[in-house]
Amino acid sequence: MTQATIDHQGRALDIERVRDDFPVLHQEVHGAPLVFFDNAASSQRPSQVIETVRRYYERDHANVHRGIHTLSQRATEAYEGAREKVRAFINARAEKEIVFVRGATEAINLVANSWGRRNLSPGDEVIISHMEHHSNIVPWQMVCQATGAKLRVIPITDAGELDMQAYRRLFGKRTRFVAVTAVSNALGTVTPAKELVRIAHDHRVPILIDGCQAVPHMPVDVQDLGADFLVFSGHKMFGPTGIGVLYGREDHLEAMPPWQGGGEMIDRVTFEETTWADLPNKFEAGTPNIAGAIGLGAAVDYVNDIGLDAIQAWESGLLEHATRHLEALPEVRILGTAEHKAAVISFLVGDAHPTDVATLLDMKGIAVRTGHHCAQPVMQRFGIPATVRASFAFYNTPDEIDRFVAALKKVIPMVC
Ligand code: ALA
Repeated sequence: MTQATIDHQGRALDIERVRDDFPVLHQEVHGAPLVFFDNAASSQRPSQVIETVRRYYERDHANVHRGIHTLSQRATEAYEGAREKVRAFINARAEKEIVFVRGATEAINLVANSWGRRNLSPGDEVIISHMEHHSNIVPWQMVCQATGAKLRVIPITDAGELDMQAYRRLFGKRTRFVAVTAVSNALGTVTPAKELVRIAHDHRVPILIDGCQAVPHMPVDVQDLGADFLVFSGHKMFGPTGIGVLYGREDHLEAMPPWQGGGEMIDRVTFEETTWADLPNKFEAGTPNIAGAIGLGAAVDYVNDIGLDAIQAWESGLLEHATRHLEALPEVRILGTAEHKAAVISFLVGDAHPTDVATLLDMKGIAVRTGHHCAQPVMQRFGIPATVRASFAFYNTPDEIDRFVAALKKVIPMVC
């Protein structure tokens, strides 16, 4: 892999141009050039997104769907335009299947509370996996507590892969719902999402796919995937914070009751009775994050411009490069060695506490995450409290990985 470009199926990624688009990358931290390897927690924004949001606030801001004046119409057009961009990006059938929410966490809470409370009864079962982010565990745990349903958990192997035999065996007469991630944020495992969907549907059970760590890094087509629901967050895909997407198949969303009440989600209100707005507004109570949605639309444009095939190829090159170098260090133990991985490497350094490693790396300008990564059951599975995690985006380079490895080599004797 060269520093300038990588070819994959005819697509090339111009890394110099890409890096120029991200102002935040061009700074020093503790006197060293920043190496930002915490993209799984939150990625950075290109100037195109920052500029779109700035222009919206400077010229067009007004509330949406409420005014006949020009600014309100402009804001509405831009907000609904962003919905169409997201629809096309994940190939949903209709804009009404795209609900703007605060983030993936809110999207899962929406489905758990709306679909779950309507459809779950005592003794029913919801399947999740051992590698879920807390956002795809706790909402289901809460709705199970409220309805008397039970959680069933797909185990994971030592390599950090889903045990698919065990998944098949979990289905029974009382299975009502499945919620599984497409990519583990803690281990980097890419799960066989399409197969997970097929098996759930063989049992006539709807399935939600957490696409947070997938949608920014690989092509995701909801019609091809076949999932009933897909969720993702804007801030992990180069868009603003506070905006996310719930994709839901129209028949499900139509049948589901609203989750939150307020303005925007109503048709007619009297003290006796309220009727609901059509999709997707039924699920968008209150003034939405207009600027966030518009910024997310700009992020979609940006990612489309580079191309997800090129992004995926570049990032898998980075993963390979980093894995090879880390595996050569005897003190480093990588957690998550699945055959299919996204560009996330969780690791331990001897018996050192991950916080010490990450603090020392930060002193050299290298930003990695440490902790349980909001996936405590994964840590429990491996009998560890935390890991150090380096997670890459398409604006990272092999040269940055070399600097990270060189820094780690200096840190190792300090902590081991
Ligand atoms: N979900 C985020 C992470 O993986 C915060 O770090």
